[in-house]
Amino acid sequence: MFNFDYYNPTRIIFGTERIKDLDLHIPANANVLITYGGGSAKKFGTIDEVKQALGSRNYIEFGGIEPNPHYETLMKAVNIVKSEKVDFLIAVGGGSVIDGTKFIAAAAYFEGDAWETWISNPPLDRVLPMGCVVTLPATGSEMNGTAVISNTALNAKLSHKHPLLFPRFAILDPRKSYTLPTKQIANGVVDAFVHIAEQYLTYPVYGKVQDRFAEGLMLTLIEEGPKALAEPDNYHVRATIMWSATQALNGLIGAGVPQDWASHRIGYYFTIHHGLDHAQTLAILLPAVLDVQRESKRLKLLQYAERVWGITQGSDDERINSAIQLTRKFFENMGLPTYIRAYGIPESSIDEAINYLKRFNLLPLGEHKNITTIEARKILSLSY
Ligand code: NZQ
Ligand code: ZN
Repeated sequence: MFNFDYYNPTRIIFGTERIKDLDLHIPANANVLITYGGGSAKKFGTIDEVKQALGSRNYIEFGGIEPNPHYETLMKAVNIVKSEKVDFLIAVGGGSVIDGTKFIAAAAYFEGDAWETWISNPPLDRVLPMGCVVTLPATGSEMNGTAVISNTALNAKLSHKHPLLFPRFAILDPRKSYTLPTKQIANGVVDAFVHIAEQYLTYPVYGKVQDRFAEGLMLTLIEEGPKALAEPDNYHVRATIMWSATQALNGLIGAGVPQDWASHRIGYYFTIHHGLDHAQTLAILLPAVLDVQRESKRLKLLQYAERVWGITQGSDDERINSAIQLTRKFFENMGLPTYIRAYGIPESSIDEAINYLKRFNLLPLGEHKNITTIEARKILSLSY
């Protein structure tokens, strides 16, 4: 196992009727900005619940944060934060609103061009405190220090990580996910599953604790994902999905083990250039990454085949093929096509994706940094 530091400062406030408890975790004299997305949080009453919990504190609302939050929109909020002297942020939404609010928290203290500052990955020394109310179980952003921001003018989508970007608290009420369209629940399950895969399907380092946690989470998502679609009001299923998604990317299963992230990095191109949902890009790319990287991932793929999919018969390659096939089938059954062409995207996207990876210096990728242009092209061709 590798050396690691593990510190997760986010308080999880889980269950029904918990929004009112945000009162306990925000200073009584806080001047709050409540951020939200395109309107679902308002429409379904979550913003009202937050406002009620804030009692007599001052607050301002900022809506309109898009899926794959846009830098331009977030800068409007940064200006409000500065002019109104906001000192606490509450994000109400899914990964996009939470990530966008992390950016606002950091950019409130930036001098000069905020995008340039952000992409230079500065060693932040202060950010505004933030909390969040999760309405979409998927990204784990509520309990990690990562934010993924898009700059549409530059056709760029980039991820940044910083220890100061962990939310102070995250309120997870599984019932908030009842209003999600089926597609977003499916996206959330697939995104969480791929987060686990990116931290587990690498090479063995005797990370037995991490492996068993990862396998347990994968088995849970395989069991509960289809139920979340079939029984949308089943509280226990939604609670299980929500907690799995948080655990999938809060640093626990990735501590002390190698990590891949190739599917995520390549996937950004398909979101920014072709408008695919984040999880759709992963459904396309993960099976192909596993296939192309089968030599360097061989031991973990065989472990995955046996422990997650119960495959014990056949040659090594047959077992690996079956595991990849079952992974693909799981995504398809959740309603996410697993080939680029199924989304009506032209084959020329393969060259464009390679150019994107080069432009943002994202290559080489993978846990061995062995995904260069040639391997990336193989992955994309296989995904097409
Ligand atoms: O905008 P509104 O009207 O709220 O609608 C949203 C949005 O259209 C809707 N929605 C959310 N909660 C709802 C709801 N609709 C009905 N009822 C509810 N309870 O769902 C749509 C998608 O929301 P979004 O926040 O974009 O989805 P998700 O949580 O999947 O977040 C995706 C973003 O997170 C980034 C992705 O790249 C993408 O930008 N990621 C962030 C990560 C992190 N911070 O660690 C890791 C991930 O790998 C990912 O990259
Ligand atoms: Zn993801």
